Amino acid sequence: MITQNLSIIREQLTQGKLIGLPTETVYGLAANVFNTKAVSDIFKTKNRPNSSPLIVHVASISQARALVKRFPEKATLLAKQFWPGPLTMILPKSQIVSGLVTADQENVAIRIPNHPMALSLLNQLNFPLVAPSANPFNRISPTTAEHVEAYFPAIYTLDGGACHSGVESTIVGFENDEVLLLRHGAISIEKIEAQVGRILNRTASEKASLPGQHKKHYAPSCELIVSYEPLFMLSAVKHKKVGILWYKSVQIESIHVEVNLVLAPSGALDEAAKNLFSALHSLDHMGLDLIIVERLPAEGLGITINDRLDRAASK
Ligand code: TXA
Ligand code: MG
Repeated sequence: MITQNLSIIREQLTQGKLIGLPTETVYGLAANVFNTKAVSDIFKTKNRPNSSPLIVHVASISQARALVKRFPEKATLLAKQFWPGPLTMILPKSQIVSGLVTADQENVAIRIPNHPMALSLLNQLNFPLVAPSANPFNRISPTTAEHVEAYFPAIYTLDGGACHSGVESTIVGFENDEVLLLRHGAISIEKIEAQVGRILNRTASEKASLPGQHKKHYAPSCELIVSYEPLFMLSAVKHKKVGILWYKSVQIESIHVEVNLVLAPSGALDEAAKNLFSALHSLDHMGLDLIIVERLPAEGLGITINDRLDRAASK
């Protein structure tokens, strides 16, 4: 059920139910972080393995501090610059955070979402919210209340419109005074480095890939290929119904293509990020055999978008 009524949502959460939460990145499937039954329902509902830890959403830096043992200096700097916003920080958890939330790790992932409805909800509650993206495990992330409703019709989803960023938060961790990049996201590496200097890219390392950074993710139900040359790929395959998702414009029409969509007519990478999952949802519902997506330039948010596309293409 889709609603704009905050008191219904508050009531649901207080009763230990799950709700669909709008944020500036993607919609989350949210529950009271301190309600163990509700937290375990998140894993069941998403069909997500317990080994994949959850992000805790808080209303303020002081609420974040209450969940951790230490807040490194660089974390304070980043929080001041980017919170509320699409930056998730991995910090040493205090005892009040259950191991169910963190997949039994000593660290907890925290962020303040930058969405007016999410913020006013968090300010009205006396507990933070755990919220993974509101998609079944490995499926395409939701960026509208309707996407969440299609996946989980039995829960209430707070309708906050289309998500502004459209891709998930950037995740960073801290080690010996260094900042580690653990997931590409809505804030580019350049923007983070402008605040704290060089950061270490650990997105490809074994360690970073352990807690929940599964290779196959964000996947439509049919095959997906990413390529700088979509039409060249088309000549190499023998699928019946093919859709192409172009970056800025349809390069060349082909009679062998069922549908052509354009991700960002302006060419702006933030526009591409905002439209990415919606475009994939639309193509996913067209009964295609194959989706070919034009790869984006590997700079700024293009790196994040290519990361999501490569995971969607992964078998
Ligand atoms: O933008 C976002 O971050 C969205 C919105 C709803 O806030 N949430 C989101 O959650 O993307 P999810 O569950 O789809 O992805 C969270 C990722 C996990 O896959 C895991 O890699 C990482 O965060 N993570 C969470 N807790 C962690 C921890 N304690 N240590 C390391 N990584 C962690
Ligand atoms: Mg997710």
